[in-house]
Amino acid sequence: MTVTVRDLRPDDRADVESFAHVRHLALPHILWTPDAIVHRLAHTHPDARFRSLVAEEDGEVIGSAQVQLAYDSPEPGQGMLNIYVRPDRTHRGAGTLLVRASEEHLTAHGATKLLAWVLDEPANRAFAERHGYRASRSAHFLRLDLTGKTLPPLQSPPPGIELRSAADFGDDPRPLFELDAETTSDEPSDVETEFTDYETWVEENWKHPLLDRELTTVAFVKGRPAAFSVAWTDPATGRYATAMTGTARAHRGRGLAKLTKNASLHRARAAGYTTALTGNDVGNQPMLAINKWFGYEICASEVRYVRELG
Ligand SMILES: CC(C)(COP(=O)(O)OP(=O)(O)OC[C@H]1O[C@@H](n2cnc3c(N)ncnc32)[C@H](O)[C@@H]1OP(=O)(O)O)[C@@H](O)C(=O)NCCC(=O)NCCS
Repeated sequence: MTVTVRDLRPDDRADVESFAHVRHLALPHILWTPDAIVHRLAHTHPDARFRSLVAEEDGEVIGSAQVQLAYDSPEPGQGMLNIYVRPDRTHRGAGTLLVRASEEHLTAHGATKLLAWVLDEPANRAFAERHGYRASRSAHFLRLDLTGKTLPPLQSPPPGIELRSAADFGDDPRPLFELDAETTSDEPSDVETEFTDYETWVEENWKHPLLDRELTTVAFVKGRPAAFSVAWTDPATGRYATAMTGTARAHRGRGLAKLTKNASLHRARAAGYTTALTGNDVGNQPMLAINKWFGYEICASEVRYVRELG
């Protein structure tokens, strides 16, 4: 029984479905669909050198890696590797082979600092430490049962504020790009991100197959987008995930994030979605407070592990 590592075959549906299945078993708090996995491989900016790897044993996909350079960070030389092995197929060497192949790829393209998200469980943390990584900041996965009664009542927008959906932007989402760029750069993280290229944003985000433009909700103040909550949906499983919530700096602290996300959640529930998922850095006190107000509960945590190459 030999484990081997190779690139995912994006044109082979069964291979992509196996990758999605491994991810779902290892990390059920994120939406993994075959289309989303292929989209990321095909549309991530070429400078990211993005690769999806699989570990295979006797023809069965048992592990997965997504690997890329943080090409949109002002700090050069950062590489990211996220590795998940099927929980019932660990201790067969798949994780170690995936780490090795990922590190080789990243260092060949100039990475000197490697970052990996690790689910906060003792075996995973020990694995990362054995490979020379040290723990950095943490993030929580949160979950809200939309069939329960916890959602706050729907609020009417105050005077001067209008709620619209992303679908209303038609073919010109540039104002949304600008809001996303401003707010994402303020999100607490150990990898600073700067969205500067509109065309890349359109390819990676606006055309993302999980993006639900009807449920993505935007608050307008004086005709300009001031806050937004981005909905990703998987109708097959009834799951809805918030990919981003942000309020322009000039409009923070006025309830716009709550208003916008609440409108999106209510419409998601009306559309039949039963579970809402999201994730927050532990340092993002405002967003954690907002999600607690909605009734989200922490269901798991992950830790960013970092390895600096000498
Ligand atoms: C997080 C963010 C979306 C909040 O937007 P906002 O429009 O100011 O939020 P709201 O006014 O709707 O809600 C404010 C709530 O946040 C909480 N809050 C605000 N500042 C806080 C702080 N310093 N500590 C703890 N809670 C805080 C409170 O619960 C407050 O509710 P209250 O006013 O009823 O008491 C905004 O700061 C932002 O865009 N940040 C950068 C992007 C980001 O991190 N997004 C989240 C990604 S997961």
